[in-house]
Amino acid sequence: MTRTNLIICTYGGIYPHKFEKPWATKINYDHSLRMVLRAINYLPNQLTQITIVRPTVDSNHTVIPQYYDCSGFDKIKDKIKFVDQENIGASYSQFYNVIYHQDQFDYQIVIEDDYFPCVPNFDQILIDEYTRYHRNDIFLCAGIRRNSDGSYQTLPFNEEPALCVADFSLGILSAECIHRIKQTITYDNILAAMRKETWKRPLYYFQIYQAYLFKHSGIEVVDYCDRYLSIFYDNYDNAFQLFNTRGDPQINQYKRLWESHGVTYQGPLFLPIQIIYEQYETYFYRSLEFVTNTARSDYLHNFQKLSQVLRNAAYLIRELKPEDRDQYLKLLYQLTHFQYENTPEHYAEQMAKNDTTCHVYVIESHTMDGRVTLIGAGSIYKLDKLHNNPVGQIEDVVIDEQYRGLSLGALLVKQLATYGFNEWKCYKIVLNCLPHNIGFYEKCGFQLAGTEMKLVRGTKVPP
Ligand SMILES: CC(C)(COP(=O)(O)OP(=O)(O)OC[C@H]1O[C@@H](n2cnc3c(N)ncnc32)[C@H](O)[C@@H]1OP(=O)(O)O)[C@@H](O)C(=O)NCCC(=O)NCCS
Repeated sequence: MTRTNLIICTYGGIYPHKFEKPWATKINYDHSLRMVLRAINYLPNQLTQITIVRPTVDSNHTVIPQYYDCSGFDKIKDKIKFVDQENIGASYSQFYNVIYHQDQFDYQIVIEDDYFPCVPNFDQILIDEYTRYHRNDIFLCAGIRRNSDGSYQTLPFNEEPALCVADFSLGILSAECIHRIKQTITYDNILAAMRKETWKRPLYYFQIYQAYLFKHSGIEVVDYCDRYLSIFYDNYDNAFQLFNTRGDPQINQYKRLWESHGVTYQGPLFLPIQIIYEQYETYFYRSLEFVTNTARSDYLHNFQKLSQVLRNAAYLIRELKPEDRDQYLKLLYQLTHFQYENTPEHYAEQMAKNDTTCHVYVIESHTMDGRVTLIGAGSIYKLDKLHNNPVGQIEDVVIDEQYRGLSLGALLVKQLATYGFNEWKCYKIVLNCLPHNIGFYEKCGFQLAGTEMKLVRGTKVPP
């Protein structure tokens, strides 16, 4: 039986006192380790041990108690083991701590706490991928940057061109590799090298250091991103990137590239946690607990849907702006082929009334190449009553046909109803729809009530 250890390196769970919040950005990392563990608990796997390496806490740091809470993960709870490691500014030191001190495993898989596995038997897939090279002296990782001619990219200040600088934070090593590393250098020396002026080193210092170490230990670095999609999150640009896309960020083109090489297309094995935050936390105003506890988490296991996520890296819901007119009308055309008043003047006049009698939300899609497109819209109108609070009427809900089925319609309707209840204090929200949309509105919490009747302008009114 193969013994495999999954090492999760983490800096989360503590933060320096001088910051008000950990990683004070729009992305909330508070629970990312639990998200990773939830995925491991959910997905079938053969892991022998799950080692979480956490930073030791000193008096300058505050602990986030819930961060390391492992309750609720019944399938894996007995396999979890904690190791404490001084934070010297790189997860690599955490990784070495484990591989030097726990050598009872055939394979050590390493991830960081902002990556989570997203396919069943991810560990077995990685081991199969490893053994297909028929060698046990490789470090198999998610991605090595390549140039357009396919050659490995090296860093500008890298004086040894053949040195392969990879993303080492996501990969798998055999026991043989670990044996070789131990023969090359002691653990104390690795730590000493990493501790030395850590914070003054260039950004890639640890990667270069590790690349040298592997080279001197006779370990070849190999990546699997020709066969499995490898996505990483670039903190500096705040964007998802695909390895080996040769400058082409579009997933469909990536797919084509793959196909042109006759390679079988495979979805990702691991995903950056930011995908969840981008998709749910920031834009959907939903908590991580909610996301992972509902069927919506199928998103992560359905490549069809996932590729939509990547293609549309993020959705943002916001209010309609005057400059949206053309895109907005184009979108409404998918709902109805209107003949009525739609001059720029009329639009401007109506926009001026925004918020008092009408409120329009739109959804923008932000693609990885920086394009922003309107892909959804919906309005709510206020009907003031003499004897009661207003009625809110939802109108003109439409999602671009390429983006349907991604919960965006429901998001929009929820947002409109919330606006009506909170801002206008409506006592009820109503809408008219065609019979084939009843199911959709029921999913949004609406109930069938009464029958719609209409008298269209131009119809002869009986005397
Ligand atoms: C109706 C419309 C806005 C729905 O938007 P959408 O983003 O595709 O819908 P969602 O993905 O948010 O659907 C939310 C839920 O409703 C379900 N649903 C969506 N359309 C449905 C329909 N016509 N009948 C039954 N259920 C429907 C979805 O399956 C989903 O269920 P789930 O939560 O169990 O997965 C979209 O299809 C659209 O723009 N249609 C054309 C314009 C139109 O008819 N607008 C309505 C005017 S009244």
